[in-house]
Amino acid sequence: MAKCFSATIWLLVCVVPCVFGWGFGPSKLYSCPSTAKVCSMKEVTLESPEAIEQARFQDIHDPLFIDSGRIPNFSAELLKKLPTISDLTLGELSIAKLYVRANFRQLSAVNNEIAELLLDDSSDATFSMRILQLSHNKLTALPSLDRFVELRTLELDHNLLTTLDMAAFAKLAKLGELSLAHNRLLTVTSLSSVPVRLDHLKRLSFAGNQLVILDVRTWEMESLAELNVSRNSLNRFEGNLAQFQSLTKLELAGNRLYCDWFVVEPLLVNPPHTLSVDADKPDRCEAEKLMRQKDLCCNPVSNEGFGLLDVFDVKWDQLRRLTEQIAMLNASIASGSASVKPQLEQQHLALSTRLDAFVRKQEGQSEELQSLEKRVNQQKDDLSELETGLFEKVNELRADLNSKWNGTDETPLDGKSSYTSSVSTNWTLVAAQHENTLTSLRERLETTTKQFNVYTTKSYEQRASLKAQLERIDGLERKFERSLEQCWELQKRMDKVGPTIEKVYGFLNELRERSTEDI
Ligand SMILES: *[C@@H]1O[C@H](CO)[C@@H](O)[C@H](O)[C@H]1NC(C)=O
Ligand SMILES: *[C@@H]1O[C@H](CO)[C@@H](O)[C@H](O)[C@H]1NC(C)=O
Ligand SMILES: *[C@@H]1O[C@H](CO)[C@@H](O)[C@H](O)[C@H]1NC(C)=O
Ligand SMILES: *[C@@H]1O[C@H](CO)[C@@H](O)[C@H](O)[C@H]1NC(C)=O
Ligand SMILES: *[C@@H]1O[C@H](CO)[C@@H](O)[C@H](O)[C@H]1NC(C)=O
Repeated sequence: MAKCFSATIWLLVCVVPCVFGWGFGPSKLYSCPSTAKVCSMKEVTLESPEAIEQARFQDIHDPLFIDSGRIPNFSAELLKKLPTISDLTLGELSIAKLYVRANFRQLSAVNNEIAELLLDDSSDATFSMRILQLSHNKLTALPSLDRFVELRTLELDHNLLTTLDMAAFAKLAKLGELSLAHNRLLTVTSLSSVPVRLDHLKRLSFAGNQLVILDVRTWEMESLAELNVSRNSLNRFEGNLAQFQSLTKLELAGNRLYCDWFVVEPLLVNPPHTLSVDADKPDRCEAEKLMRQKDLCCNPVSNEGFGLLDVFDVKWDQLRRLTEQIAMLNASIASGSASVKPQLEQQHLALSTRLDAFVRKQEGQSEELQSLEKRVNQQKDDLSELETGLFEKVNELRADLNSKWNGTDETPLDGKSSYTSSVSTNWTLVAAQHENTLTSLRERLETTTKQFNVYTTKSYEQRASLKAQLERIDGLERKFERSLEQCWELQKRMDKVGPTIEKVYGFLNELRERSTEDI
């Protein structure tokens, strides 16, 4: 009994951890002491939907700080397991996709790989978010921010944004700080019809982008105190900076602002004593062949008054034409590739038809060649038959002749056998008869010789014609090879054309996608 009981204990000791430890191996329990002010967790690695499904959280409370681990897909499913959290700070967790719940008040996910933000769309409710920090990520576009009506701070430094429309912030009436430094901004657009009204905005940074011109004419930012546009390629501002009456800190270093602009910008002509303006590095102006305007370098290029000078002058026309061309392309693709595709197909068809024609011609030529060869062979046979016949005939003649010669002693050629038996032979008659026979034999020999000569001549002629025909066959064969080569050449060209067509398709499609994206 005791033995049995202890065996059961052993079984339990062994089996229970085996089943619950290994069977639910990846399932981990995450928790933080309820006494801690900040709920902090380390090594949270959830790399698949299954891992997220199996993860368990206990005693989690605001503010939550996930310090380390790996969560590439920070999904809605994961957040369902953290229903009470509204203040979330995420460390370096290799996050690529981040779900943003409407009840968040504070969200920080700096130094990740976020390329996509998914916004809670379970209802049309506005978001509670006050602080959103997403610097050092991989955002190339912003989702609509219209529902972030409570947002105070938006930090998007070191992302991959290339264009920005100030209208994106139109609904963020409480926004106090907006930073888009070190993106790849080429343009910041502001619709002339709708003012960009951000009454509470205090700090604004576009530093470290590639802006050439900044249009501030429609900006209504009565609280703006710090404007940082340093390290762009700015030539000038459209509108003037004096409109920002609360401005205390202006950072312009590292641009290529026209010297003429400095002279007409009221804020810089008559700087209020509360305003501090930054300075370029002391050796920059000389190094970059710029002039000096107080502590900043300026670009002397425009002497005619920057207001009249359009740096893009000629380029605008080119741009417009390019845009028109793209629109035309887009239109032709959009209309079901109606004009492009059939054209390409037509070309393809034409090429295939030519190829087919070549093949058919080639087949025809080989047939012709075959029949020609047959004819030549036939003639060869005929010729050799003729020769054989000729030789037989000559031999026959020779035999005939021989026998006749042999027979002269006994048999007269005219067949009068009675003669031989006659006792009194008239030798004169015999001699005369022999003379006749000889003459006739000579004549026949002559005829035979002539005939032989005719045959020989004819045979030579046949040989010559045979040779000519052989040459013709050779010529045809060469022609045949050439057309074969042409055929291959065509095939090769066809093969090359294929990928090009595909590339063109790809390019056109890309263009279309881009142009639809832009809109
Ligand atoms: C992220 O997770 C959601 C929910 O589990 C899933 O639908 C989606 O396919 C995942 N995306 C990727 C890229 O893993
Ligand atoms: C302005 O931007 C530059 C470049 O990023 C940075 O070095 C500087 O500290 C910024 N100024 C302020 C006041 O943040
Ligand atoms: C491109 O085509 C689409 C679909 O027809 C159209 O909606 C869009 O306005 C076009 N874009 C441009 C730039 O023409
Ligand atoms: C003719 O005579 C020669 C020599 O006597 C002999 O070799 C030859 O076979 C004879 N020819 C015939 C056809 O009888
Ligand atoms: C032999 O024949 C010739 C011509 O037929 C004739 O002139 C001659 O008299 C004949 N001689 C004899 C001996 O019969």
